[in-house]
Amino acid sequence: MIPTAHIEVNKQGIIEKTVLMPGDPLRAQFIAETFLENVYKFNNVRNIYGYTGTYKGRKISVMASGMGMPSIGIYSYELYNFYNVENIIRIGSCGAYTTDLNLYDVILCTEAWSESTYAKVQSGYDSDIIAASPILNNKLEKIAKNLDIKVHKNRVHSADVFYRENADEYKQIYKEHGCTSVEMESFALFHNANVLNKKAACLLTVSDNLITHELTTSVERQEAFTNMMKIALEMAE
Ligand code: HPA
Repeated sequence: MIPTAHIEVNKQGIIEKTVLMPGDPLRAQFIAETFLENVYKFNNVRNIYGYTGTYKGRKISVMASGMGMPSIGIYSYELYNFYNVENIIRIGSCGAYTTDLNLYDVILCTEAWSESTYAKVQSGYDSDIIAASPILNNKLEKIAKNLDIKVHKNRVHSADVFYRENADEYKQIYKEHGCTSVEMESFALFHNANVLNKKAACLLTVSDNLITHELTTSVERQEAFTNMMKIALEMAE
């Protein structure tokens, strides 16, 4: 495979049709080392680790996206457009905007709402809402049911800014746009999938709550999100 600007696959390397995408390279490494067999690392560029392996005998890849829409925008575009990837399933963390969500609850994103200009700049797309692939979401929902893991089907806020001077702004976003939680990547991922005729979905685990200020540690975040990982890994083909 010819290397792209940000992904370098070695000679024998393959990126599978379905890629799981955590934000954190250490989470990609954890998933590969804990759940995959016959695994090899295909990408090291910028420490954005990427792995291909098998899960219960079926093939899947895992690669980190980094944080934020510019970062996932680059990696997902290259995977879809240059490496023949068909499905990207983001597996990330989010902050809850409501006490209806508890730490470690799993969200299946139906749509991403964003104030970001990513989609407008990328292709002139004018709406502030982009849906996940219904085909992938149906599969993920069925898998979750089979595994007896509850998922909340919710709209998510994809934010460009983590540290806002007005820390209460989220209340308005919850009320006006119906977003139950916040992360920083789905809007760009869903947009890239749409413009390139591919599929994207996003599972999130609640890592903090903006109302109660409860939060998980980074070690917990890396290792304790097993429910979400087990759902996503069943997408291996
Ligand atoms: N804000 C943005 N992204 C996040 C958060 C948050 O509070 N928690 C996890 N990802």
